[in-house]
Amino acid sequence: MDLLLVEKSLLALFVAIIAAITVSKLRGKRLRLPPGPLPVPIFGNWLQVGDDLNHRNLTDLAKKFGNILLLRMGQRNLVVVSSPEPAKEVLHTQGVEFGSRTRNVVFDIFTGKGQDMVFTVYGEHWRKMRRIMTVPFFTNKVVQQYRYGWEDEAARVVEDVRKIPEAASTGIVLRKRLQLMMYNNMYRIMFDTRFESEEDPLFLKLKALNGERSRLAQSFDYNYGDFIPILRPFLRGYLKICKEVKERRLQLFKDYFVEERKKLASTKSMSNEGLKCAIDHILDAQRKGEINEDNVLYIVENINVAAIETTLWSIEWGIAELVNHPEIQKKLRDELDAKLGPGVQVTEPDTQKLPYLQAVIKETLRLRMAIPLLVPHMNLNEAKLGGYDIPAESKILVNAWWLANNPENWKNPEEFRPERFLEEESKVEANGNDFKYLPFGVGRRSCPGIILALPILGITIGRLVQNFELLPPPGQSKIDTTEKGGQFSLHILKHSTIVAKPRAF
Ligand code: HEM
Repeated sequence: MDLLLVEKSLLALFVAIIAAITVSKLRGKRLRLPPGPLPVPIFGNWLQVGDDLNHRNLTDLAKKFGNILLLRMGQRNLVVVSSPEPAKEVLHTQGVEFGSRTRNVVFDIFTGKGQDMVFTVYGEHWRKMRRIMTVPFFTNKVVQQYRYGWEDEAARVVEDVRKIPEAASTGIVLRKRLQLMMYNNMYRIMFDTRFESEEDPLFLKLKALNGERSRLAQSFDYNYGDFIPILRPFLRGYLKICKEVKERRLQLFKDYFVEERKKLASTKSMSNEGLKCAIDHILDAQRKGEINEDNVLYIVENINVAAIETTLWSIEWGIAELVNHPEIQKKLRDELDAKLGPGVQVTEPDTQKLPYLQAVIKETLRLRMAIPLLVPHMNLNEAKLGGYDIPAESKILVNAWWLANNPENWKNPEEFRPERFLEEESKVEANGNDFKYLPFGVGRRSCPGIILALPILGITIGRLVQNFELLPPPGQSKIDTTEKGGQFSLHILKHSTIVAKPRAF
């Protein structure tokens, strides 16, 4: 009797398992996945599409497979969105469903598995971090408090370049000096501190570690171990270097900046809210128990990459385009001279009154988007997009560069023509009011730093054009604007030499 019961139970279990497998298979079959190249076992599409999934290669794939396409990269699902309608679904209509972030093996290390803000999933932690960062970084009050600092830093760039004799003859790598300026712009906000020169040992150390972090994170070299988990042991060496860089970097932030600021704060009264810098606000949140010490350091980490490099790359692209388009440069200079008077240095409030300057900035961000695929989004749960089923935890890349460079949406998009933003596209703003132009994203995970980035770009590019004639080096008619893409970044490959001829007023 007992034996019969066991037999029956086993049979029931067997039937249940078969039924479960059949149902799951049927469900699997019912999924209407987006089109894409045919995947092969284990590797998926990886061997077909390769490692370099930059915005241009993804555009070519979209032309073949459509505006919502699926790539199987080993074990990872990657969905590429390439037209305004589904971009609106991902970023706005279904902003919660697609509001998380994927992290690969390397970003897991640099963000402590999402203890930061930029790479954390959509939820309580992200909301708290974004709230805590808003007052010290992302309000108009911050702009009003720090604009004098940015104007001062830009004035020092002009002064320093004027002092270098070869700047006017053979030229200089202007980017190096602008990098110091961008660090100072952000370190003034964060820690109320600045670096005196490009040779400052602390600045050099910081710059080297941040550079390493970016190189390691944006490289495609580690894709294989990320896509195919059984290959991960071969990444051990790479990941070890990432861990070392991460440790050294966070230690540097802690020892030289956070602790220094704490010491200073303990010696003088910080009761005057107006004198507080960003880290004082962040440390207040730590004291209240809202975040821990690691979160504080990850906020510093996020600002170092999200704010400094993106803005610097955009300034560099803007200058490159102005050097290669002297007629546009002249038109901008004429606007500055006419509106402000020759030699009257542009300030933050002036940037609002200079439509051509604004148009030059918008056009730079359109053609040379610093984050052309936005920061990858993710759906935690299975979702629907444009009638397709999107498997849970897919990496969603919105090809914002193609939205802004597709001839179906723009007139002669390959041309650098700021006038488009004063003529046929005069209603299009950088804040995402039109889904074909999203240099800062839009919606919940959009860039909160836009409020700082735009005035910094205006002040810096404005002052350079006011004070110098920017030219290619002797014997060259143009500077090289070859692009270098990363996992989701885009910058100029060669930091070109530029001649900066001072203007006499
Ligand atoms: C020209 C300069 C900049 C560009 C082009 C840029 C672009 C972007 C883009 C495309 C995103 C991702 C949007 C998305 O995934 O939907 C982003 C996110 C972010 N940016 Fe920026 N950014 C710039 C400057 C800044 C600055 C100056 C800061 C800080 C002071 C900053 C802080 C952030 C943060 C914290 C996020 C993550 C937001 C989140 O995940 O909730 N960015 N940025």
